Parts: sequence; structure tokens; C-alpha cells
Amino acid sequence: MINIAVCGANGKMGQEVIKAVRTADDMTLVARIDINNGQFATIKDAKDSVDIDILVDFTQPQAIYENALYCLNNNINMVIGTTGLSDSQIDELKKLSETTNTGCLIAPNFSTGAVLMMKFAQMAAKYFNNAEIIELHHNQKKDAPSGTAVKTAAMMAEVNDNLASGNCAETETIEGARGANSYNNIHIHSVRMPGFMASQEVVFGSNGQTLKIRHDSTDRECYMPGVLLAIRYVSEHKSFVYGLDNIL
Ligand SMILES: NC(=O)c1ccc[n+]([C@@H]2O[C@H](COP(=O)([O-])OP(=O)(O)OC[C@H]3O[C@@H](n4cnc5c(N)ncnc54)[C@H](O)[C@@H]3O)[C@@H](O)[C@H]2O)c1
Repeated sequence: MINIAVCGANGKMGQEVIKAVRTADDMTLVARIDINNGQFATIKDAKDSVDIDILVDFTQPQAIYENALYCLNNNINMVIGTTGLSDSQIDELKKLSETTNTGCLIAPNFSTGAVLMMKFAQMAAKYFNNAEIIELHHNQKKDAPSGTAVKTAAMMAEVNDNLASGNCAETETIEGARGANSYNNIHIHSVRMPGFMASQEVVFGSNGQTLKIRHDSTDRECYMPGVLLAIRYVSEHKSFVYGLDNIL
């Protein structure tokens, strides 16, 4: 049995993870951690009371780095779904995971459809020299751009060093009109409103044609097979992984 603690247990994703863990024959839920009315308020409180094999974190961007430092320094393996970690923080966590031999899998998106959308976008980025990303989420999402958009841009940038090729010099008459200029000039536009859960469209263009690759999550259930897969992977391998695509 794999002993699971869920951090952010009372949140939208935390609740879904709890349901999924309860249906898995090889896992036991040992702790529900949440600063807001959790069985335990902190990871330390939970660790002092129960044996945790893997902590699954779906909290918030401001909390995740501290949570991860605590877990990796205290030999608690992690599966991280919380978004908002910077590239340098991810590098630091990778080093810490390796020096402490503690497993840590970070995935900005656990849905298989979104992972495929990212892979397809990376494939297309070899053949187009212009691309932009539009991500659309519910209006309670705290970070922008989404972790999925950042990871998608990073994957596309690995295969093409300029994705705004031939664009003229631009002036924004309203600041932000062109979105965030991320890796290799890939612009990311973040939409926030009710009605969306999590969607992303990667738009490619070249003379005389456009290509759009789109993924829509319509229910948080779509993330759960990926979360369970990640838990089993970390339980077995105790290594550092960034991106679900690396274990599919
Ligand atoms: N990786 C993925 O596939 C994926 C999918 C959806 C959402 N997310 C990310 O997951 C995170 C959570 O999303 P959500 O929609 O469930 O948010 P939410 O606001 O519904 O839930 C967050 C929960 O975490 C708790 N919390 C905050 N700080 C904490 C701390 N320091 N310790 C313990 N508990 C704490 C809050 O009280 C809340 O109950 C966000 O970063 C979101 O972007 C990732």
C-alpha cells in the first residue's frame, strides 16, 4: 500500500484527488492537509502523526515552493500539480531531489489530452516559424500564464529558435495587447472568465495557412489517471521528473 497525503485537500483539485485515491486498490489516504479546515493544517503536523510515502500537492502558487522544500528536506516524496513554480525554482527542486534521493514529479498538466496537445505543438513548431498560445481558464485561477502554456512554449522553443519570424517592429498602444513574450518570442495570451475550466489553443501561421491545436478540459476527472500514474511512478522510482510526457 502507498500511503498518500493530499495537500490542498479542501480545494477543487484536492477533493478530486481524494476521490481517486480512495478508489485505487494500492493506495491509502493517510492525511488531508489544508490551511483551511484540513485534518492537518501543515505538512509538518501530518508528518508528525502519520507515515507518508507520497504527498500530492494541489495548493497555490505562493505556497508550493516552501511546501516542496519542506518535503524534499524531510524525505517525503512528492507529486506536484500546483502551478506557478519558476524555472529557477524547478532547477533548485531538481538538485534537492537528487541530493536527498527523494522522488519529485512536477506536472503542469496531468490530462493525457493536454500532454498530447503539447507534443503535437512541439511537432508543428519544427515546420512553422510563427506561433502564439492562447490559454483560457476559470476566473479563480491565481497564476498567469498557466503552467501548461509555459511548458508548451518551452517544448516548442526546444525545436525552433524564433517563433515570431518576419514580424514587423510593434508598438503596443495599450500595454499587454501582445500578451507575454515567452521563450523564443512565443507570445502567450491568458483569458480568465467563468464558463471555462482549462483550455488551450496553439495557433501556427505561415504564408497562406494557419494551424490550430486545441485542448479543452471539461471536468477535473480528466487529470486523475495522470495523477495516479505519477504516484505509482514516484513510488517505484524516487527520481525527479518534470512533465507527465516523460512517464507516459
Ligand atoms: N497540474 C494539473 O494538471 C492542474 C490541473 C488543475 C489545477 N492545477 C493547479 O492546482 C492548484 C490548485 O488548484 P485548485 O483549483 O484546486 O485551487 P483551489 O483554490 O480550489 O484549492 C487550493 C487549496 O489549497 C489550500 N492551500 C493553500 N495554501 C496551502 C498551504 N500552504 N498548505 C495547505 N493547503 C493550502 C487552500 O485552502 C485550498 O483549499 C493551482 O495551482 C492550479 O493551477 C493543476
